[in-house]
Amino acid sequence: MPQNHRHRRDHVLLVDGGRQLNGRVCISGSKNAALPLMAASLLTKDRVTLHNVPRVADTQLMAEILQDLGARVRDTGPSSTSITAGEPVKHEVDDALGRRMRASIVLLGALVGRGGKAVLPRPGGDAIGVRRVEQHIRGLVQMGAEVRETDTQFIARARRRLRGARVVFDLPTVTGTENIMLAAVLAQGRTEILQAAREPHVQDLAKLLQEMGAQIYGAGTDEIVIEGVERLHGAEHQVIPDYLEAGTYAIAVAAAGGDVHIECSPPDDLVVPLIKLEMAGVHVDTGEGTIHVVRNPGRPLKPVDLTTWVHPGFPTDLQAQFLALMTQATGESVISEFIFENRYQHVLELLRMGARIRIDGKMAIVQGPSRLHGTDVVISDIRSGAALVIAALCASGTSELKKAWHVDRGYQDLVGKLGELGAQIQRVDESRRTAPSPSGTFE
Ligand code: EPU
Repeated sequence: MPQNHRHRRDHVLLVDGGRQLNGRVCISGSKNAALPLMAASLLTKDRVTLHNVPRVADTQLMAEILQDLGARVRDTGPSSTSITAGEPVKHEVDDALGRRMRASIVLLGALVGRGGKAVLPRPGGDAIGVRRVEQHIRGLVQMGAEVRETDTQFIARARRRLRGARVVFDLPTVTGTENIMLAAVLAQGRTEILQAAREPHVQDLAKLLQEMGAQIYGAGTDEIVIEGVERLHGAEHQVIPDYLEAGTYAIAVAAAGGDVHIECSPPDDLVVPLIKLEMAGVHVDTGEGTIHVVRNPGRPLKPVDLTTWVHPGFPTDLQAQFLALMTQATGESVISEFIFENRYQHVLELLRMGARIRIDGKMAIVQGPSRLHGTDVVISDIRSGAALVIAALCASGTSELKKAWHVDRGYQDLVGKLGELGAQIQRVDESRRTAPSPSGTFE
């Protein structure tokens, strides 16, 4: 797993629109769960084995970072990875590797928790917002770490074992909650995290840490309590399915039309997005581990307003995809983005495809239905990439989506899975202008 992330190949996605999606698709493990779970493996010298790890660029990169730190990382099955962070483990995250993924910030809590020291590249703002981490830092400082910030790095050091603290977040930050959990499990005494994030991936991290011997209560609520323990041991853990991937496929079927069973993924984490789809006139029914989505393209979609919010609200990570869907609804829908300052990059590209959307502060006002037409567009982040694929599926003609590596960061085999459902989609290597493997795996 770790050897693959040296180069971002300049791939484009070519999508011929107008085909319905039909059949079955199996959802992979959650990227946003897997990353902190992999970081958690640093908290023990024993082996931690994770199953259902998504084979996406970000988990490959995390594996590479852990290996560079001194951990032994081995793929033990198609989606299983074992990590053993025996002695010694470096505390300095490789600058070039760490900088490539904002989520490397979760190594801060894990490294300080393990050895009392961490040096990490400081990620700047990115396409979707400023993405501050002052809540993470403040929590660690409360627990006894000294954290120095330079223009390029975070340098953290705890002179003694971290001690439990009452950490009250101003807002429920996801990786901030994970960082404090990772730091607190081996700290002395009791840590309380108030206004904690409640996302399913936060709950999954608590579960793995418990399996490793940690004492954590309340994950999934806004108050998490951790009683520090002396040591943690190895564990074997199944990463939760990626509800964001499942939601993306559900929206894609709604947009393109068709009849798809989304499998290997329980619907429980997607309650609000599925309600929004039903409000739009899409047929959704759910079973244990499956979501069945049916849309007859002959029937118009209804416009639906939504506001992104922390879990269990409508996830910001599905906003772009739903906005793309709303270009096909008859009437006006108002999409409000309340988590990130600047998560409307896809709008500019959708306008180029013929959508009618106006941005007004935090709101995007979408007028539908639009007859989208294929054109060249540029992907700016994982979810805008998914949105542009969805738009391209219902556009006439061929769309060319540049910077496909963004979607490879978070969607395992998007090209292969959509192709199985009947989409006309292929990946092309820009530099060679030849179609490599249709599987869509990251090279
Ligand atoms: N924020 C602060 N100060 C902080 C921390 C956060 O102001 O100290 C603000 C952020 O700027 C943002 C909001 O709080 O406006 C929420 O940020 P959060 O910290 O919750 O986001 P994150 O932990 O950086 C994770 C996911 C994102 C997802 C967000 C929101 C991972 C690895 N990343 O990011 O996933 O959008 O939570 O749910 O879990 C993606 O998968 O495409 C993705 C971007």
